[in-house]
Amino acid sequence: MMIDDAHASGVLGAGGAGTVDHFGLHGRVDIQVGTLSKAIGVLGGFIAGPPHLIEWLQNRGRPYLFSTSRAARRRRRVRRGAPDHPR
Ligand SMILES: Cc1ncc(COP(=O)(O)O)c(C=O)c1O
Repeated sequence: MMIDDAHASGVLGAGGAGTVDHFGLHGRVDIQVGTLSKAIGVLGGFIAGPPHLIEWLQNRGRPYLFSTSRAARRRRRVRRGAPDHPR
């Protein structure tokens, strides 16, 4: 079972623990994804799952690779003295 917890993290469950806690599904969910852009209020997200899935995503997941390259480009801009967040 996979749960997209985008609208439940920080809202449902004890202390905002999310869907798994709200419905008592501990140990029954294989993959859990979520965003930090809603209740948490920042940029980013998360995936939790078995080690072989996480390793595969780290090596093959295109958004993961692209977000890594964006950070490197930003570092180069900052090193040149350009603003971190151009307007
Ligand atoms: C169910 C669900 N999953 C994931 C997302 C992704 O959110 P974001 O692109 O803001 O990280 C959204 C955004 O609305 C969503 O509704």
